Amino acid sequence: MPDFFNPFSGTVPDRKLTREELIRAIRLDIAGELEAIHGYMAHADATDNALAKAVLTDIANEERVHFGELIRLLGILTNGEEDGYLKQGTLEVDTQAAQLASPAPEAAAAKDEPTIGSLKGA
Ligand SMILES: [Fe+2]
Repeated sequence: MPDFFNPFSGTVPDRKLTREELIRAIRLDIAGELEAIHGYMAHADATDNALAKAVLTDIANEERVHFGELIRLLGILTNGEEDGYLKQGTLEVDTQAAQLASPAPEAAAAKDEPTIGSLKGA
């Protein structure tokens, strides 16, 4: 399990967490789910035992559900702020993917224009 930089992350405090501390704890829990997914899938990929592979993959998929639950909880706890960042990240990747799929017309046109370098070979 990830521990990040807090040497007391496994210690239950003698008081309840503040909202900010709870948000940090949930981020740590999210990291734990991702680490678990990685571990289960790595172990499933590393074996030829069909039953073990099926069970490990099933558990990894359950961890994916936990990941989704925690992401949703984080969105609620942050009053939607986290959802905004996630949406921004999604849009940035979608924009990059769209640009790669179809380059800007001027870039495509510039590609066909002769340059000094291309004329030297002619
Ligand atoms: Fe889990």
